[in-house]
Amino acid sequence: MNAKKLSHLGGLTATQFLRDYWQKKPLLVRNAFPGFTGLLPIKDLFQLTQDEDVQSRLVQKQSAKWDLQHGPLAKNIFKSLPQKNWTLLVQELNHLVPAAAGLLQHFCFIPHARLDDLMVSYAVPGGGVGAHVDSYDVFLLQGEGTRRWEISGQKDLTLVADAPLKLLKKFTPQTEWTLGPGDMLYLPPRYAHKGTAITACTTYSIGFRAPSHQELATQFLIYLQDHISLDGMYADPKLKLQKHPAEISADMIKQTNNILKKVKFNQTLIAEFLGSYLSEPKPHVFFNPPEKSINEKTFLAQANQRGVMLAPETQLLFVKGTFFINGEAFSPEQSAREFLIQLADLRHAKLERDTKVQLIAQLCDWYNNGYIQFAT
Ligand code: SIN
Ligand code: CO
Repeated sequence: MNAKKLSHLGGLTATQFLRDYWQKKPLLVRNAFPGFTGLLPIKDLFQLTQDEDVQSRLVQKQSAKWDLQHGPLAKNIFKSLPQKNWTLLVQELNHLVPAAAGLLQHFCFIPHARLDDLMVSYAVPGGGVGAHVDSYDVFLLQGEGTRRWEISGQKDLTLVADAPLKLLKKFTPQTEWTLGPGDMLYLPPRYAHKGTAITACTTYSIGFRAPSHQELATQFLIYLQDHISLDGMYADPKLKLQKHPAEISADMIKQTNNILKKVKFNQTLIAEFLGSYLSEPKPHVFFNPPEKSINEKTFLAQANQRGVMLAPETQLLFVKGTFFINGEAFSPEQSAREFLIQLADLRHAKLERDTKVQLIAQLCDWYNNGYIQFAT
C-alpha cells in the first residue's frame, strides 16, 4: 500500500504525502475525485438542518456584519434568505449519510483515531465563514459548483474581538485557487484560509483532530482516578504541638508529597487510556439499537449471511490484543483478533465459519447496543 500512487493525492504515495505535506504545507489536488459532486442532494442537506439531533449552523454576512445561527433551522428559512453571502454547515455527516464511510476510506492512510468528522457546507455566491484558522488538519473537497480558496502561511493569527465566529483580524492571502467539483485542498493546522463561493456550491471537509496537551492531561487524570489503588493511610505518630492549629504544616505537605509519588503509570495504562478516550463518543452522540434485541443464534444466522459493519457513530480501535469500542474495552481470544482488526480497519467484515462463541456473544451484544449493524 505504501508504494501505491494515490490519484486523490495527486499521484503521491501515502508515505510521500505524510513525509512532505502532512502537518507541514498545503497541497492542491486537481481532480482528486473525478466526477465527485457530493454525497447528498441539497434538499436533503436542508432537511438535515431542521433536525435537532444534527449539528448545523447558518452563517450570513451582511455588509461587514457576521451573523451566526445554530440549528435546528426553521423549515422555510431558505426561502427567506438572500441570493448571496450565506452558507450553512452540517457537522458529522459521516454519522448521517452511509456513503460517507466510502469517502472516508480514501483517507485511511491517516489513523482512524485522528479522524474528527466529515463536515459539509453549502454556500450561495459570496458565502463563506470568513478568514480563519482551524486547529485541525483538513482536506477540503469540492462537491458541486466552484469556490475560491485564499490561503496564507501568515504568523499573525490574532482574532477579531467580539465576533460570533473566529475571524482573523488581518488576512494577507499569499495564494489563491478556484476549486471545482472533485478538486481538493489539504491544509495543515493553523494555516490561514478563506473560502468564498463563486457559484452555489458544496464543500466537504474531512477534518482530523489533535487533542491539546491540556486536554490529554486532564482526560488522563480523570481516567487515572478509576485505575489507581494505593494502600495505607495518612499517619502522624510523631505529631508535634503546633503554634497555630489552623496551619498546614511542612510535615503534612512532605508526607502528602511522598504519598502522591506512589501514583504511578506506565505505557500499558496509557495505551488503555488512549483506547478508551479516543473511541469514546462525543457527548451528543447516541446510538440506535434495534427495536427488538435478538439472541446469539439469530445474530449468527444473519451475520453469516450478510456480514457486519460498524454503525456510523461507532469508533473501534485496538492496541495489541485489546479492542476499544465506543469507550469500552474487550480482549478477545487470539483467534478472533483477525476478524476484529478487519472490522476496525475497514468498518465491515465477514464472519468465518469457525467463529468462536465468545466473539459471537460479544458481537451480538454490540448489535443489540446499536454499535454494529448487518452489512447488507
Ligand atoms: C466551509 O466549508 O465553508 C468551511 C470549511 C473550512 O474553512 O474549514
Ligand atoms: Co477552516
